[in-house]
Amino acid sequence: MTSTGKRYLVTGGAGYVGSVVAAHLLAAGHRVTVLDDLSTGFREAVPAGAEFIEGRVQDAARHLDGGYDAVLHFAASSQVGESVTDPAKYWSNNVGGAIDLLAAMRSAGIGTLVFSSTAAVYGEPATTPIREDAATAPTNPYGATKLAVDHMITSEAAAHGLAAVSLRYFNVAGAHGAYGERHEPESHLIPLVLRTAQGRRDSISVFGTDYPTPDGTCVRDYIHVDDLAEAHLLALTAARSGEHLICNLGNGNGFSVREVIETARKVTGRDIPETAAGRRAGDPAVLVASADRAREVLGWRPSRTDLAGIIADAWTFARQQESAE
Ligand SMILES: NC(=O)c1ccc[n+]([C@@H]2O[C@H](COP(=O)([O-])OP(=O)(O)OC[C@H]3O[C@@H](n4cnc5c(N)ncnc54)[C@H](O)[C@@H]3O)[C@@H](O)[C@H]2O)c1
Repeated sequence: MTSTGKRYLVTGGAGYVGSVVAAHLLAAGHRVTVLDDLSTGFREAVPAGAEFIEGRVQDAARHLDGGYDAVLHFAASSQVGESVTDPAKYWSNNVGGAIDLLAAMRSAGIGTLVFSSTAAVYGEPATTPIREDAATAPTNPYGATKLAVDHMITSEAAAHGLAAVSLRYFNVAGAHGAYGERHEPESHLIPLVLRTAQGRRDSISVFGTDYPTPDGTCVRDYIHVDDLAEAHLLALTAARSGEHLICNLGNGNGFSVREVIETARKVTGRDIPETAAGRRAGDPAVLVASADRAREVLGWRPSRTDLAGIIADAWTFARQQESAE
């Protein structure tokens, strides 16, 4: 675990993952400043106790000073579909934002970075579980921009001694009390299933029922956001000057779309109508992580791997949101 009393800049800390990691950092006794432009985040998601700066990563130089121990960089545009229709937005915000952030860190003398990368850098895997040495062949601009930033970080570490860790998340799910997933539009399966349980959608579409999987539906690796957050705290300790460590984060244990829907029916006690739809282009049958490196190098031990528990936490959050509306 990190020593207490450090000072961290969390970009994107008004979003889903950034807010939960900020809450973990505060609980561990650190000081946190959130930098977020609220483009997809929410002011009320910034945990109490964190300082908040409403601003863009592109302007990080205005806010950074040498008093920070590290930056955790979550801020990005992350809708896969939108990245296909508006790729320039993704290259500008994700890659342009990272260029500006790295320059600001260099000027301020901040030498440690933890970056939110993604399983989307791998594209359609040749084998599963996916290891970090698998070929990277993103199938959409979102994944391509994240891979470009990973390459940028590798060269920054070599040239300037940056201590960097990229964490490649698989499907993040669940909630941390009042901090949970609020994407608009939502494209992730568990929140969509829960919106259907709430009657906010008529049915949940199942894209493809003829995949070579046990029940014919796609299999994905769901990781609880609290387990994910713990990996970030460990990454801050593991980062070494001049090195860029890349770790996948997943459970190594896949669940099918049908298993998710069935488990959500049990957890919520609600009817969740489903509609069979055709396969979507670029949707691999199985996407499951090998997180051996995170276990070995970071000492990471995910403990919330039960699908019903992940969905139950997301359901509690979804109901809180509903009653707040
Ligand atoms: N949620 C997942 O399943 C998942 C999976 C893989 C990777 N990731 C990555 O994790 C990170 C966080 O994802 P999330 O689900 O919390 O997304 P999110 O949209 O909830 O959070 C992103 C936050 O960044 C802010 N932001 C975006 N561009 C900004 C900019 N230029 N300057 C300042 N703030 C900006 C947004 O307002 C938002 O609060 C992203 O980088 C995403 O690509 C997420």
